[in-house]
Amino acid sequence: MVEAHNCAARLVELFGSQADVARAFQLDRAVVHNWVKTGYVPARWAGEVERVTQGRIRSEDVINEASAKNPVRVKSRPDNAPFGMSESDPMSQYAPAKRIHSFHPPQRTLMGPGPTEIHPRVLTTMSQPAIGYLDPVFVEMMEELKSLLRYVYQTKNPLTFPLSGPGSVGMEFCFVNMVAPGDKVIVCQNGVFGGRMLENAIRCGGVPVLVEDKWGEPVDPQKLEDALKKHKDAKVVAFVHAETSTGAQSDSKLLTQIAHKHGALVIVDAVTSLAGTPVRVDEWEVDAIYSASQKCLSCTPGLSPVSFSERVVERVQKRKDKIHSWFMDMNLLLGYWNAGARTYHHTAPTNSLFALHEALLLIREEGLENAWSRATRHHLALKAGLEAMGLKFLVKEQYQLPQMNAVLCPEGVNEEEVRKRLLAEFGLEIGAGLGPLKGKIWRFGLMGYSCRADNVMLCLSALGSVLSDLGLPVHVGDAESAAHGAYAQMHVKDAQRKKRAA
Ligand SMILES: Cc1ncc(COP(=O)(O)O)c(C=O)c1O
Repeated sequence: MVEAHNCAARLVELFGSQADVARAFQLDRAVVHNWVKTGYVPARWAGEVERVTQGRIRSEDVINEASAKNPVRVKSRPDNAPFGMSESDPMSQYAPAKRIHSFHPPQRTLMGPGPTEIHPRVLTTMSQPAIGYLDPVFVEMMEELKSLLRYVYQTKNPLTFPLSGPGSVGMEFCFVNMVAPGDKVIVCQNGVFGGRMLENAIRCGGVPVLVEDKWGEPVDPQKLEDALKKHKDAKVVAFVHAETSTGAQSDSKLLTQIAHKHGALVIVDAVTSLAGTPVRVDEWEVDAIYSASQKCLSCTPGLSPVSFSERVVERVQKRKDKIHSWFMDMNLLLGYWNAGARTYHHTAPTNSLFALHEALLLIREEGLENAWSRATRHHLALKAGLEAMGLKFLVKEQYQLPQMNAVLCPEGVNEEEVRKRLLAEFGLEIGAGLGPLKGKIWRFGLMGYSCRADNVMLCLSALGSVLSDLGLPVHVGDAESAAHGAYAQMHVKDAQRKKRAA
């Protein structure tokens, strides 16, 4: 009997002979003979071995054995690397030796709903040496970072800082601190992210009141007013300024005024709006606002800039109950972000914070108003091109966000196939529809560093070529020339404006 210590030998034992193994796998006997001779089954047969043996020989056993006997040679990791995974190292059994190598993401053009492309200056800054989060040099940088955030938020709120976590953490932080169990919260929903706010209000033990609008429309101020009249005890009103799932912009200033008239504080989601369209925290008297680093700020994902008015800080400090999240308790975080003598709260993501500092500095150098008008300029060119292709916007013109363009997919087109082809053939990422809009829309982001003329032109010619390839009556070149026309008109208007001002 064959002693079964390797997978090839185990196969022979299971099936009776090399000829029987060959029959079961529909292979030439010589192939099986070679497996037995070399003492392993090549990794590409792993799945088949598990299937044919009905799981008695597992695919990972085949893979691990094959990669130990015949390791893949990886150029970036020499065999004798002192830190490499050696085959004799018993810990290697948990990861096939030398099959894992350095990750090199491909170059992509990112025109989806975020993340965006990142300016080379930001990437360089991020790769600087690590320093401690209480290092005096880092503490100095934190102060600048806070002041740059006050600039993009247009606020003097002392409590303006980046939370360690994505936009969802910013959202949750606002609710956890501002909604005590039993508090009535009015949540306005006109897309995916209003739904997330509702979920947060419920999880905090709040009593939610939902004000709904159709996806693709802004939040209706009248509906909010009616809800506040009906629910006089409402303590908080929450809404999304720029609904990323539809590309619709709501009137944050007006909604805040209405909430205040009825004595409620507001939580505003500015994840997609910050630095893409005007956000004026002090002028609009916003109470609590959060955003995310990977949208119009064009930084790496994972940070959520927030800002709170004194009214909110006071309310949170007066809360009698203990805030039910330790990590998110505003009072505890103040000791790190808002104090003269900083103390440890959690390990701050230092290199990501360097990157955010640089991303904000780029906006400061460009000028916030210039960043807003850049989004509008490229939106108008993109829109001219998309419409020249016969595509229709989901949102009415006056509510369209320049940085998030949602268009309806034409009848009979497989929206997913188009996105896949754009990615595979042009390295271009665009967004799909979410929830009820799944399969019905495409979303084109023009955020931060991705908001550039070269991206607009690439996007139009790539989309035009894929659609015409799929048989749509799209005349290749029409979209590009409509976009060029729009840019030219804007140049003329700018020149006239400058002449009048001179
Ligand atoms: C409007 C809005 N709110 C909240 C979020 C959640 O942000 P994150 O994905 O960074 O957690 C997003 C993300 O796209 C968003 O667009």
